[in-house]
Amino acid sequence: MLPSLAAVVAAASLVRAQFDPNGPTQPGLPQGCVGSFPNLTQCQISNWYLGDTVDRCAPPGPYPVAGQQVYIKDPTNFCINLPNPESIFLANNFYSWNKLPTVVQAEGFVQSFCMGSYLPPGAKPLPQFGIRSAHVLKNFTVPGQHYIQIHGYLDCEVLGINCTSSAPGLYDDAGQYDDGPFINCGKEPYSGVDNSTQANPGMQHYVEMAGNGLYCMRVCEPGNLMAGRPCDLTQDTAGCEKFMKVQFGDGFTFTDLVTGEKSTATVSMPPRKTTTTTTSAEAKTSAAAASGTAAVTATTSKSGALKNGAFAGLVLIAGVLAAL
Ligand SMILES: *[C@@H]1O[C@H](CO)[C@@H](O)[C@H](O)[C@H]1NC(C)=O
Ligand SMILES: *[C@@H]1O[C@H](CO)[C@@H](O)[C@H](O)[C@H]1NC(C)=O
Ligand SMILES: *[C@@H]1O[C@H](CO)[C@@H](O)[C@H](O)[C@H]1NC(C)=O
Ligand SMILES: *[C@@H]1O[C@H](CO)[C@@H](O)[C@H](O)[C@H]1NC(C)=O
Repeated sequence: MLPSLAAVVAAASLVRAQFDPNGPTQPGLPQGCVGSFPNLTQCQISNWYLGDTVDRCAPPGPYPVAGQQVYIKDPTNFCINLPNPESIFLANNFYSWNKLPTVVQAEGFVQSFCMGSYLPPGAKPLPQFGIRSAHVLKNFTVPGQHYIQIHGYLDCEVLGINCTSSAPGLYDDAGQYDDGPFINCGKEPYSGVDNSTQANPGMQHYVEMAGNGLYCMRVCEPGNLMAGRPCDLTQDTAGCEKFMKVQFGDGFTFTDLVTGEKSTATVSMPPRKTTTTTTSAEAKTSAAAASGTAAVTATTSKSGALKNGAFAGLVLIAGVLAAL
């Protein structure tokens, strides 16, 4: 929620105007709007509370809007938000300059991408092999604080994201997406959780951090965005390891803390490419080329050893290269 100074400075150097009466209109937004999120300068001046400020670029409801809904069912059936490859703002500031946005640079301009066959309204399939690992923990142990979390490795090249972070592991530099309200300076105020029966019934909030080749996300019951709760928005500089108490590793696993169930999904994937020279145009094409097919074939087994052990080292190498 509270952007670091570095994030504010990085944001300020972009062409940030999201409303221009004579400018283009992002589909789904009011005339002249290319984004809908609070003015960061104004947020800083007013100590991250905008009171009765009205968002002139708020999309018409219902909320959460189509195309920005996440959920987590298991390690091969979930959606996360990522930079929207169809964003006019991102096109003007990155894609058309042969650049790729980082997760933080795309705050305010997200699109949900999913693994698995179920797609929430407006969601798109994840580009094949864009997710390299996923570990899901379902924690329904404390009434009123139920949550489900996921974390793993990304293939940023496949996803068309710039994963360079100046502070690896501190995700305010890399980015946080959440459903914090507009007046509290949340940057995806109209995004949220798909609470339909195919997705996460009873869940409302989410917090997602990503960058440096890593991602993590929690979906939570209503009332859990405040400090100390499972979807605490103020942890945006903590990083996944600290905030979600996770360690990154390969494979696709599921753990239910209440039932004690643990399962492993076997996901076949090619080795990760080690080149880092993909142009933004190529990456955008590959992102757009993903069609309605599920990204992987997955089978679950209670015991199976993970099949992707070889990839972790490559991921680390790629992460180091990206950080240089
Ligand atoms: C953001 O707020 C600042 C301070 O009120 C203002 O000077 C600036 O014009 C605003 N930017 C936009 C894009 O509206
Ligand atoms: C990725 O971000 C870094 C740091 O901002 C920048 O130097 C680099 O040019 C970016 N790469 C692309 C492809 O946008
Ligand atoms: C499960 O959630 C509760 C409520 O937020 C929390 O106190 C507990 O530490 C969590 N358990 C694990 C293993 O993370
Ligand atoms: C699902 O979300 C909508 C919109 O936030 C809310 O009105 C509804 O009560 C929620 N339903 C359930 C079952 O949580």
